[in-house]
Amino acid sequence: EKGTYPHFMLKEIDEQPLVMRKIIQAYQNEDGNLEIDSDIKQAMGATDRIYIIACGTSYHAGLVGKQLIEKLAKIPVEVHLASEFGYNMPLLSAKPIFIFISQSGETADSRAVLVKVKEMGHCAITITNVPGSTLSREADYTMLLHAGPEIAVASTKAYTAQVAVLAILASDAGAATGAKAELDVVKELGIVASAMETLCNSKEEFEKIATEYLAVAFDCFFIGRSVDYYVGLEGALKLKEISYIQAEGFAGGELKHGTIALIERHTPVIALATQFGVNGAIRANVREVAARGASTCIISMKGLETEGDRFVLPAVHELLTPLVSVIPLQLISYYAALHRGCDVDKPRNLAKSVTVE
Ligand code: M6R
Repeated sequence: EKGTYPHFMLKEIDEQPLVMRKIIQAYQNEDGNLEIDSDIKQAMGATDRIYIIACGTSYHAGLVGKQLIEKLAKIPVEVHLASEFGYNMPLLSAKPIFIFISQSGETADSRAVLVKVKEMGHCAITITNVPGSTLSREADYTMLLHAGPEIAVASTKAYTAQVAVLAILASDAGAATGAKAELDVVKELGIVASAMETLCNSKEEFEKIATEYLAVAFDCFFIGRSVDYYVGLEGALKLKEISYIQAEGFAGGELKHGTIALIERHTPVIALATQFGVNGAIRANVREVAARGASTCIISMKGLETEGDRFVLPAVHELLTPLVSVIPLQLISYYAALHRGCDVDKPRNLAKSVTVE
């Protein structure tokens, strides 16, 4: 039930800090460490390449997951859209494992790939919010999201739950592959949960940004580099899905290879700057679009901020920034859609779970 909330989407955005804490509880062992199923760990230790398969928002979580697994477990990862993979399968490695990410566990495009890879005899893990769902039943192993039912068509808390579960998987798999432990996940996810609370208490700020930048906008660009680029893709999907504003996520450095031609006076460009190594580079990209008249909005992170940034996120571990940087984008999309009179929870032409290929 929505309770006092006007929309499920807003309620589900607000639930994210609690979901982080539930995930910590669910994966914590007696020693207080986060642990994955020993069979999954063994499979991760034996594979030479992971193939992540997903659609939409779950695909965007998969892109972040690639980064986490490669950095923490040192296993190469490819991320594929289910609807593409099924028809144009890449050359597989000798010992692949497949990770299916799906909130509903019912997405037909993902299921079609799962059926195919099981026929080929490969190991499959499903990360889903729904125990007993088709993708969970048909895979060898399941990791649950513990996010509680997600009702709004626009996925919010499932995305952050997916990223958190992928962080746990990556970090514990690192023990199986002998990678050096780099992330104290219990501690860092705790910090993330508090940062999420701060953001959920800053709604007026994001409502103001939505009004200022998107009230009359026809289009909007989200730019970032490294993992901020992946979060930008998710921000763009959220905005187009519920507000019907044409939105695109771009890698900052790629703009000059074509897309910058679209920048006009007042084109909104929302930039994420949460990564130390590319902080200078993304800011240079912001200057490039600002010089062509764009209305730029920089969302940065404590420690990396510069005067003029529109919002500074509380600092979290560099590998976990998507868990917090996505929240402003979810809220900006929510308010943009609300102000335009859109049906926030049930956008046109869309279903919560896409059970046809
Ligand atoms: O249930 P799934 O995670 O498999 O769904 C995948 C996509 O259909 C879903 O994430 C979709 O993109 C959302 N509506 C985005 O908010």
